[in-house]
Amino acid sequence: MHNIGDVISRKRRELGLTQSQLAQKLNISFQAISKWERSTAYPDIEMLPKLASALGTTVDVLVGYGGIVADYDSRYRGEDYYWGLCPNRLCYEIMKLLPPIRPYRLLDIGCGEGKDSVFMAKCGYDVTAFDISDEGIKKAKRLAEHNHVDVNFLRADIDDFRFDGEYDIIFSSGVLHFIKPQKRAELCEKMKAHTTPGGFDVLNVFVEKPFIKRAPDDGRDEKLRSPWRSGELFGYYHDWLFHICREEVFDCKSGGIPHKHCMDTLIAQNVDEDI
Ligand SMILES: C[S@@+](CC[C@H](N)C(=O)[O-])C[C@H]1O[C@@H](n2cnc3c(N)ncnc32)[C@H](O)[C@@H]1O
Repeated sequence: MHNIGDVISRKRRELGLTQSQLAQKLNISFQAISKWERSTAYPDIEMLPKLASALGTTVDVLVGYGGIVADYDSRYRGEDYYWGLCPNRLCYEIMKLLPPIRPYRLLDIGCGEGKDSVFMAKCGYDVTAFDISDEGIKKAKRLAEHNHVDVNFLRADIDDFRFDGEYDIIFSSGVLHFIKPQKRAELCEKMKAHTTPGGFDVLNVFVEKPFIKRAPDDGRDEKLRSPWRSGELFGYYHDWLFHICREEVFDCKSGGIPHKHCMDTLIAQNVDEDI
C-alpha cells in the first residue's frame, strides 16, 4: 500500500536533508516531519505543493498517483545525474567480448539518463537507446551532445517498442523488474530474435530471495515492480552460450536506509552453429 511517510523519508534522505533542515524549509517543526515519516500524522493538503517542491518531486508522486514515469521524471529533473556518470561494469565485459573494431549495433533498454549508452557510443558502438521517462531522455541527449557523440535516443515503453532489425548487443540494466511476470518470456524471446547470430544479450534483473527483506523504498510502487524468480532469466536463455551467469547479493542505500538486493546477471551469446 502507498505510504506518503515512506516517500517523504526517502526523498528527504536522497537530498541529504535532516528532518530539521526540511522542517526549516517548510517553516514547521521537525516533530511534524517525524510524525509524517512514522505515519502517525499526515501533511495538510495545502502543504503538499510546498512539500513536493522542497523534496524535488511532484504532488502526484507524494500521494502515489505518480507511477513509474512520474517517479523517474522527478528523480531525473535535477541537474545532477541521478545514477552518476560511471559506466556499468558490464560495459567493460561487452568490450572484452565484442571489441568495437566496427560500429556494432547496441540497444540499451531503459537507458535512464544515458550514462551507459553515451559511454558505449564514445567507445565506437552504434547505439540506440530508449526509456519511458522524458526527463531521462532529455538528460541523455544533453550528455551525448556534451560528449560529441551520436546516440539514437527515443522515448518509448518496453511494452510498445518495435525492435528495428537486429542488434549485435542488447543491453538492459536495472529495468526488467518493471515488466509483468506474464510478459517476460515473450520479451526474452523478442530480444533473442532480434540479436544477430554471434551477438550478445547482456541483462540483469532483481530477484526475490526468501532471506532478503523487501527494500524499504520499494513499498511506493510495489504493484509496479516485480522481482524475478531466482534463475528465471537464465532459463529463458537455456539454449544460448553463457559467458557470465551470476547471482549476487549486494548492499544498497537508495532512499537513505541501508538494505540488500539480490541480482541475477547474464551475458549470453546467440550461437546458432556447432562450435
Ligand atoms: C534503475 S533505472 C536504470 C537506468 C539505467 N539503465 C542505468 O542503469 O543507469 C530504471 C529505468 O527503467 C526505466 N523504465 C521503467 N519502466 C520502463 C518501461 N516500461 N519502458 C522503458 N523504460 C522503463 C525507468 O524510467 C528508469 O530510467
